Order: sequence, then C-alpha cells, then structure tokens
Amino acid sequence: MNLVINIYYTGKNGSAKEFAKEMISKGIVDRVRQEKGNKRYEYFFPENDPETVLLIDGWESKEALDKHHKSPMMREIAELREKYHLKIRVEQYTPITDSKDFETVIRERTATRKFKDKKVEMEKINKILEAGRLAPTAKNLQPQKIYVASSDEALEKIDKVSPCRYGAPVVLIVCSDKSMAFTKDDYSTYEMDASIVATHMMLEATNVGVDNIWIEMFDKEELKKEFNLADNIEPICLIPIGYKTDDYKGNPHHHQRKDLKETVKFI
Ligand SMILES: Cc1cc2nc3c(=O)[nH]c(=O)nc-3n(C[C@H](O)[C@H](O)[C@H](O)COP(=O)(O)O)c2cc1C
Repeated sequence: MNLVINIYYTGKNGSAKEFAKEMISKGIVDRVRQEKGNKRYEYFFPENDPETVLLIDGWESKEALDKHHKSPMMREIAELREKYHLKIRVEQYTPITDSKDFETVIRERTATRKFKDKKVEMEKINKILEAGRLAPTAKNLQPQKIYVASSDEALEKIDKVSPCRYGAPVVLIVCSDKSMAFTKDDYSTYEMDASIVATHMMLEATNVGVDNIWIEMFDKEELKKEFNLADNIEPICLIPIGYKTDDYKGNPHHHQRKDLKETVKFI
C-alpha cells in the first residue's frame, strides 16, 4: 500500500455514525473496495468520541487515488456528507515500507522492560493492529477485542492493575470475546485465538522497529473493572509497546533457548 488517508468525520448527535452506516448500507463501501488499486476502505467508531468516525482509506498508487476522486461515487459520498453536515479532517501519508525479512524479525523480537517516553507513530500502531487483524482464528470467528491504551487516564489504570508497563507509552490490551469464539462442549479456543493475534502484533511491532513485551502479570478482574469490560470479554495479555531506552541492556534470558532435541521429536 503506497498511500493511506485517514479521514475523521465529525458531526452532532451521532450523525457521523449515521453517515458511515448509510455508506455501508448503500453499498458505497463495497463499491469503493472493488475499485482498481483500492487496498483498504474501513470505518472505525472510536468509543471515546461518539461524534467522530474514522475512515481509513488505502491505495496502491497516487494514480489509483486520483481515479477514485474522479469516479461518480465521489459525488454520492459528497452528497451524503452534506446531508449529515459533517466536518472532515484529513491526514494523508505514505506508510512505512522498510520491512525487515522474516528471519530478522523472529530473531530480533525480544522482551523489552524499559521504555522511553517517546510516542509511537499512529501509522505504526495501525500497521501492528492490521497484523493482528490478519491472524488466523478457529472457524475464522475473530473473537479478539483489542483496546489501545494510550491516554494518561488509561495508562494510569494499567499501572493500577500491573507492575509491568515498564514506562511504555502505549499498551495493547488483548482480550477475547468468549461468547464469540469457537466452542464445543466445555472447550473453547478463545485464548488460543487471541494469543495468535497477540503474537502477530508483537512480530509486526518488531518488524516496524517498535519494541514490545508480552505481559501476563496483571489483575484480570481489576482490569475488567477499571475498563468496564463486559463479562464475556476475557483479558488475555497486555502488550506494552514503544521504544527501549538507550541504557536498556536487553532481556538476560533471551538467549537461553533449549536445544531442539529437548522440545522436538520426529515420530
Ligand atoms: C505468556 C507469557 C507471559 C509473560 N508474562 C510476563 C510478565 O508478566 N512480565 C514480564 O516482565 N515478562 C513477561 N513475559 C516475557 C517473558 O519473560 C520473555 O518473553 C521470555 O523471558 C523470553 O525472552 P524474549 O522474549 O526476550 O525472547 C511473558 C512472556 C510470555 C510469552
């Protein structure tokens, strides 16, 4: 993807949400996705801002985007926007392309326990979340729910429930919706599904140069209370992400890996 546009639509009394819903129900979203060169066209409904919806719009090239701007659909979109009296704010950028090769990513990923007070670029956060979105889940039910904690208030709550934020400016709270996961008798894949999603996100974070760690040490019940999570939403892990401090010496246990013959048997 060579070009990404974030469009924030804002309107009174939930009108931005109504606009997005009409875009979907009228089939405009599907039609844009079928345009040549479109890589992504998705609405997000931020829970902390009911007046705004975010459209993430990705294009293969500037030419494809120019063609989209000239398509008849643009008129329909403009009319809908006027109907709902929405204000828009647009951010356009070229996403990071300097990916590492896979071997490098799996060798470089390591637990970081001391983060700088430096923000993680939104573009990188989106890339990390997208890697989670592409993870496999049982029956493709995608029960994961990811909460991105980055406000002071949210980070304070994390500190109340875990000693392991290590100063990270962003914490991904990886949860799984038990009522949505594949279940058979007493067995459910909710934890496996979310773990694979979490692993995808950690590896993508490493890929884009964002340090990270998997945290299990947190009070799950307290976290549910602090963030008002419903009963069916089960926290699986926290992933603090950011940039390690210059003096961080690395995880001393990182290289202590068992020999393959201790963990693998050809049968
Ligand atoms: C399931 C799981 C739970 C973990 N929980 C914690 C934790 O609560 N606190 C912490 O500091 N590190 C935690 N870690 C990080 C591990 O200690 C670390 O990944 C391990 O020592 C291997 O080192 P490496 O990640 O540098 O390769 C956890 C890792 C995993 C996979």
